[in-house]
Amino acid sequence: MAEPDLMDKIVALCKRRGFIFQSSEIYGGLNGAWDYGPLGAELKRNLKNAWWQAVVHGRDDVVGLDAAILMHPKTWEASGHAANFADMMVDCKNTQCGKRWRADQLNHGQCPACGGSSFTQARAFNLMLKTNLGAMEDSASVVYLRPETAQGIFVNFNNVIDTTHRKLPFGIAQIGKSFRNEVTPGNFIFRTREFEQMEIEYFCRPQEASSKYKEWIQSRYQWYMDLGIKKENLQLRQHGKEELAHYAAGCTDIEYNFPFGWSELEGIANRTDYDLKQHAQFSGKDLQYQDSVTNEKFYPYVIEPSGGCDRATLAFLVDAYHEEKVNDQTRVVMKFHPKLSPIKVAVLPLLKKNDGVVALAKSIKTQLQKDMVCVYDDTAAIGKLYRRQDEVGTSFCVTVDVQSLEDKQATVRERDTMGQERIAVERLKEYLKKKLS
Ligand code: GAP
Repeated sequence: MAEPDLMDKIVALCKRRGFIFQSSEIYGGLNGAWDYGPLGAELKRNLKNAWWQAVVHGRDDVVGLDAAILMHPKTWEASGHAANFADMMVDCKNTQCGKRWRADQLNHGQCPACGGSSFTQARAFNLMLKTNLGAMEDSASVVYLRPETAQGIFVNFNNVIDTTHRKLPFGIAQIGKSFRNEVTPGNFIFRTREFEQMEIEYFCRPQEASSKYKEWIQSRYQWYMDLGIKKENLQLRQHGKEELAHYAAGCTDIEYNFPFGWSELEGIANRTDYDLKQHAQFSGKDLQYQDSVTNEKFYPYVIEPSGGCDRATLAFLVDAYHEEKVNDQTRVVMKFHPKLSPIKVAVLPLLKKNDGVVALAKSIKTQLQKDMVCVYDDTAAIGKLYRRQDEVGTSFCVTVDVQSLEDKQATVRERDTMGQERIAVERLKEYLKKKLS
């Protein structure tokens, strides 16, 4: 299958089965924004829960935070976003065209739309989205929708230390929306104007920064593989010196082999002590860390693993997509890791007209749904029901038949192997919980 084809198939599946819809579709859509449907919302939530479990609950040295999207405008002066967070843009001078491009997107000096070669001078175009707070639309009321969640962590550094008494090294993690007025959003949910980030700012002593940087690269890379991404579809790419932000001492991207090529999934950066120093200077507050034993005061270094929920969702969708030939028919199956599957179990009665079968199937669903996401479906023949569940990545199907009424057993079908097993109804929950863990 040609790779661009794969992207089209995934976009179509996402719409058809309720994973992802175009934003405000009934009005013709809004470029750079997407809505997660019933299954997409489950998938993305599972992904965020898996991240939170791995980096907060599963560790002793990271705490969580949920900062506001709107922040004091000085934040962005201190962070450098007000002055530097910009793309250089040019306009095509062909009057029939007039399209605006990022200067680095020109095709050997030619307009990608009309082929023209005359452009305006490059101008900086700030990517932050602006809005106004309060009733007045004057410059005093201007605020920005945060372009990264990271700054909400830095400005709360003292609050977290004061309330948790954390000692170095420790991290603060948060998941939240960020906004960027991207000039060229595209590739489905890969580059959007509204997106969610999962970021950790890990504070440490300057002398341990380089080892913590390496540790985080390894542990974040491993996280994607633990959730089922194939090793051959992941690679690490270290930034060259010329690519590094002026404050960064190092940056490594975890890249995924998307259908449109290898692209950044997550970046791990050594941000040095730049951010805390900047906020200390702009706020006039002392943001140094004080060692409780030596009383030494200093600015910690920061290692920042920063990933996107939407990009990760896309990577997991692409990686899970499989087409297989079964009895001369194509089976589309999303082979999600059990932790990510939007639906864990589908309960399917083989005979929807048999009251006993229906009652047993419904009671099984009621029992299971207390512990796992479960659906009940009796709207088609069994072959079609299986195909429907395979296409959305449901981990297990449980079918109930007339025999079940006698032997008190149900058939459990595993998605990837399509292997079937008869399991006692009273053991079903424990059996499935074990398989899903
Ligand atoms: N605090 C550092 C930071 O924001 P970044 O490389 O600009 O670094 C981190 O963004 C991650 O956020 C990216 O690796 C990507 O997963 C996600 N991301 C950034 N811009 C995005 C966009 N326009 N659409 C979707 N995800 C985006």
